[in-house]
Amino acid sequence: MRAIAAPTRPPQTLSVREAAHKLRKDIPDDIEEVLFTSSEVQARVRELARDICRDYAGKDLIVVGVLKGAFIFMSDLTRAIAEEGIPSVRIDFVKASSYGSSSVSAGSVAVDLCGSGPTRWSGRHVLLVEDIIDSGNTLRRLAADVAGCGAASVRVVALLDKKGRRQVDFEADYTGFAIDDRFIVGYGLDYAETYRCLPYVAVLRPEAYSH
Ligand code: PRP
Repeated sequence: MRAIAAPTRPPQTLSVREAAHKLRKDIPDDIEEVLFTSSEVQARVRELARDICRDYAGKDLIVVGVLKGAFIFMSDLTRAIAEEGIPSVRIDFVKASSYGSSSVSAGSVAVDLCGSGPTRWSGRHVLLVEDIIDSGNTLRRLAADVAGCGAASVRVVALLDKKGRRQVDFEADYTGFAIDDRFIVGYGLDYAETYRCLPYVAVLRPEAYSH
């Protein structure tokens, strides 16, 4: 039988520009800068989980993720909480929308408790999990709703905090990173429902959303 030779390629040399492009091959062109790498995010999530486990030791903790943006942070954080000392942690989700598909806050917040409420949260210590705080409208509304359900306590953990954008007085109890006012995507955050699944936190190029 005649052996079929594997195809060969001529040796390649890359220009500096081509090499730089190759290094960025997994980063979409719309991304201007990676703000926090996957490893940096994971390390910070682990630190937050340790702080949370220290503060909630011996308490009946229920962690409530705010969809959609918090879904990846929620997943990593709750597993870290279970590993760091509270394996009995329970989870729920709520849905909050303030931006729609625009890059500018609409100011109003639509809340869907996704079947949760007083029967789930009454008497329990609730920790709301958010990907980002911007104007503060979403969390102020959600924290009030959860407290109104009879929770024993309500706290908030947010991965990212744009403190300079507040429209209402609201502070998280645990914050991953304070950031400037730039358009952030990745690790759950989107632009028009894209880029949520990037494993890092990145800045979107203005050209990508300003046309
Ligand atoms: C984003 C984010 C927060 C909220 C923060 O949600 O996930 O929930 O905005 O903004 P605020 O502090 O100004 O209220 P978005 O409405 O974009 O929905 P999503 O989570 O489904 O992407």
